[in-house]
Amino acid sequence: MMNLTESALASLEKRRADLLLRTLPDYASAAGNLVDFSSNDYLSLSRNPDIIEAGVDCARRYGAGSTGSRLLSGNLACFEALEAQIAQYKDSPAAIVYSSGYQANSTALSVLLDKTLWQAEPLLFTDRLNHASLHHACQLAGVRQIRFRHNDLSHLAELLEQHAQADRPIVIVTETVFGMEGDSLNIEALAELACRYNALVYLDEAHATGVWGPQGRGLGVSTHPAVTALKRAGHWVVMGTFSKAVGVSGAYIACSEALKSLLINKSSGFVYSTAPSPFVVGAVSRALELIPGLEAERTRLHQLASGLRRILQDKGFSTGESNTHIVPIITGSSASALMLKARLAEAGLLTSAVRPPTVPPNTARVRLALCAHHREEDTARLSAVLDNCELIP
Ligand SMILES: Cc1ncc(COP(=O)(O)O)c(C=O)c1O
Repeated sequence: MMNLTESALASLEKRRADLLLRTLPDYASAAGNLVDFSSNDYLSLSRNPDIIEAGVDCARRYGAGSTGSRLLSGNLACFEALEAQIAQYKDSPAAIVYSSGYQANSTALSVLLDKTLWQAEPLLFTDRLNHASLHHACQLAGVRQIRFRHNDLSHLAELLEQHAQADRPIVIVTETVFGMEGDSLNIEALAELACRYNALVYLDEAHATGVWGPQGRGLGVSTHPAVTALKRAGHWVVMGTFSKAVGVSGAYIACSEALKSLLINKSSGFVYSTAPSPFVVGAVSRALELIPGLEAERTRLHQLASGLRRILQDKGFSTGESNTHIVPIITGSSASALMLKARLAEAGLLTSAVRPPTVPPNTARVRLALCAHHREEDTARLSAVLDNCELIP
């Protein structure tokens, strides 16, 4: 039998041969004058001095660490204040904070899917391209996923019609802006469908928070009557992260007071994990004060993204269904994605080559994420490199 080292090396070798080996990027040795299209710092807030200062102030007041789970010594006053601020920002009765988006999704959604909660196994409808953390939650809960075609609400409607049973609760789980595709959900159509079937909706706004919806408050704050009805029933649960446009780290779930209490009791990522650092709380709170006023940044971001899509499509590249600040160049093969990423890196343009299993087979891509500090000359530089690139099949 092989020992662990031999098994690990064999497994990595297989990944390397399949062009799927993941390695940590080495930005330190990259050429000067870099432009980073790989970061999720969409509003360029991660280096905002005001936000950093607010984080430091909060750490000075409450400590560098929170010292324990919120249920033990970690329930510092700054958490309650942040959660009240998020509830208001998301137009929700309550909110709860987690240390990361992955933790929030995997350990809160799994509570919602618990068969003992409903006294029946929920019928669970999920977008085929949902993030790994959402998928993980479904696995953790042991509930079968009925997967609808990506962002295809007519397919979801068909599946609901086919499967819905009066005595089983229905849960629909989807992202609102998809992190790898860069397309966005028709939130009103989804809410109407959910109302028709009395379903609970769980939305992941990781890539929408700060960038989309009124004042960047996400698509889930819609005032459409179906959304209002679902909120009133406590069936509108919205998760989002602080790790992307908010520029810090951590996550929230905006939900009813009852669900918040349930998560405090049963969500393992909340109960059994040290609360986020006070630095994070202070920085996030300041970022959330600033974000509604960043309308000019959001407009520029959307204009840059439209311009970039046009450039890419004119050159014959596929950007899939992207209609947001996330623009994939879909290459199909992993070899092409790696080659394109390497060409761009030689020119000082940092991007991510996203390959299976993060995306479906034969849809490898170079993912471009636009941020508020990007300029038209940055996208022009990208365009110039692409002029000399032919994708290998
Ligand atoms: C859609 C989506 N949900 C959740 C997460 C996890 O968030 P975090 O990075 O804060 O753990 C990500 C991060 O990549 C994501 O893209």
